[in-house]
Amino acid sequence: MKRKTTFVCQQCGAAYAKWIGQCTNCQAWNALVEQEVESEMDKKTTLEKGRLSGKKLDYVKLSSIMPSDAKARLITEFVDLNNVLGGGILLGSVSLLAGQPGIGKSTLLMQICAEVAKNRKVLYISGEESAGQVKLRAVRLGAASDNLSFAASTSGNNIAKTIETGEFDLVIVDSIQTLAMDEISSAPGTVSQVTNCGNLIIRAAKKTDTAVVIVGHVTKEGTLAGPKVLEHLVDVVLNFEGDRYGGFKTVRAIKNRFGSTNEVAIFEMVEKGLREVKNPSAALLAERTNTDGSIILATLEGNRPILVEIQALATASNYGYPKRTASGFDLNRLNLLIAVLERRTKLKLSDKDIFVNVVGGMKLSDSAADLAVCMAIASAVAGRKLGEEYVVFGEVGLGGEIRSAFRADQRIAEAKKLGFKHAIGPVTIKDKFVVPVKDLRETLIRYVK
Ligand code: TYD
Ligand code: MG
Repeated sequence: MKRKTTFVCQQCGAAYAKWIGQCTNCQAWNALVEQEVESEMDKKTTLEKGRLSGKKLDYVKLSSIMPSDAKARLITEFVDLNNVLGGGILLGSVSLLAGQPGIGKSTLLMQICAEVAKNRKVLYISGEESAGQVKLRAVRLGAASDNLSFAASTSGNNIAKTIETGEFDLVIVDSIQTLAMDEISSAPGTVSQVTNCGNLIIRAAKKTDTAVVIVGHVTKEGTLAGPKVLEHLVDVVLNFEGDRYGGFKTVRAIKNRFGSTNEVAIFEMVEKGLREVKNPSAALLAERTNTDGSIILATLEGNRPILVEIQALATASNYGYPKRTASGFDLNRLNLLIAVLERRTKLKLSDKDIFVNVVGGMKLSDSAADLAVCMAIASAVAGRKLGEEYVVFGEVGLGGEIRSAFRADQRIAEAKKLGFKHAIGPVTIKDKFVVPVKDLRETLIRYVK
């Protein structure tokens, strides 16, 4: 006898008699799966069976468990990167290094390999480059050690098997998008390949306490399915961001099971690979000429205070629709700030193209950048520059009010260190260094008009 079936949406659980393309309950596409209908009688017996088949868990006292980060950590040559990782790469942990193609993932990992291979066994597996190419890079980076091995492979099965031998302390898998598992027919880079290869590798790593770093490419929008799925599986997710062509690049942990996610490492690419930037503020301000449209922002990258220059340019718009462009700053936020400027300060911007640039390839995610962006735009439009002695920080509300910024003391300390005399900032900050401002209109009249 044929059992009765229904189609159940895997997103929301709604049940249908027939298959349909889109769930009418939650609008999810292609989420219906055929399932056998259980009668009330069946349900009862299933539950009863489940109840009887369960066994009592073997629990232990929390105090008797060894914390998982008590294991050894592999220290890289990069001090800040070690901090980002929570003190180095933990043995038995699986990390994902995600970033755009060409940003320097392979370079960074080869440098890490070089350092770790001084006293540990390391394997670099590449599915993208030939042995010759990798050797070329290794030579260039001065990575030559008998402890460092190389394999070219795109087989998830073979890689997991190799990790499972436990021969290596650190294994690099470059990149997850090239891997495939024999048992799955879909192409490399698809969600099922990425998830399953990832799982296979993670299991092998945990079994043998091998530290594994997996490379994941993301597109400019960060949308590629692969790494997003992987993020849930791995212990640590490192984001490698910045400009591909020169400028600073940052590595930060957006997930870390063994450390904080507040640290950041800042790199620049030189002939001999990546180098940590020790004093980013000084480097960022070195080439500055104080013109109109240029404002120094005291911002935070993770826990680190940094001074960056915000530049704005305003030109007459040639089309009916004014153009707004932002580099290193969120475009939606820029549009919002322009609207606030127009409405609250009577500055006329609807006939101007506006370009905003964060110098040095930094990507700002700090809400206290608002005031500096607004002042840069106003300064560009008015053709008036702000005095050399000021740095700026503060969030701008929709009413044009200046709102407080967190960790003001760190921002102030950094500004003092680099020789600035004053900060223009929110009134909530009680510090002699800060000239307090309450709203945007008043600020612009006082400082750029
Ligand atoms: P790469 O690490 O291959 O990027 P990814 O693995 O993220 O795709 O390298 C990125 C760029 O860095 C590459 O275009 C060349 C440049 N580069 C240097 O400038 N100096 C160096 O020493 C190395 C190894 C690379
Ligand atoms: Mg690469």
